[in-house]
Amino acid sequence: MNLEDGIKSVLVSEEEISKKITEYGKILSEEYKDKNPLFVGILKGSFIFMSDIVRALTIPCEIDFMAASSYYNGTVSTGNVKIKMDLSTDVSGRDVVIAEDIIDTGNTLCAVKKLLMERGAKSVKIITFLDKPDRREADISADYTLFTIPNEFVVGYGLDCAEKYRNLRYVGIYSGE
Ligand code: PRP
Repeated sequence: MNLEDGIKSVLVSEEEISKKITEYGKILSEEYKDKNPLFVGILKGSFIFMSDIVRALTIPCEIDFMAASSYYNGTVSTGNVKIKMDLSTDVSGRDVVIAEDIIDTGNTLCAVKKLLMERGAKSVKIITFLDKPDRREADISADYTLFTIPNEFVVGYGLDCAEKYRNLRYVGIYSGE
């Protein structure tokens, strides 16, 4: 099997990603100057976006990770989210930026944001690499969105299909074959 087997077309190219990462690195560096923000990546999907976005910053920051899972009844999200791996950082009084690879129903982010606020974070903002607004169930939106995409099954740049394709350098549309 080759890495690109099953990819129907390129939705977001490497060049487009790189341009946006640079642009948002500048925006966040300005916004979080002198704030020592804590970037929280939601595993596994966000690992590539996290590494790119923090390296585009020109200010100091800290990073940590969480893993969460949504419960599905068949293919329908139940809205229940479980924290599978927690942070090792105390977020109280911190300016937190949650870095997510994709917002789909929004249930994961809704639960994570609520939890971090309850733990006393000074501020919690969300940056998402992809947003699929057509699928939204929870009342949540990102503060920063790099790309808004249609309701297609996308893989690559951290996103998987049965754990494959995460290391693809672009976002592709999966053919389902
Ligand atoms: C995906 C994605 C988000 C979440 C978004 O993670 O990385 O965390 O789903 O979906 P939602 O908006 O409907 O809650 P997934 O549970 O597939 O795990 P993974 O990141 O390990 O692939």
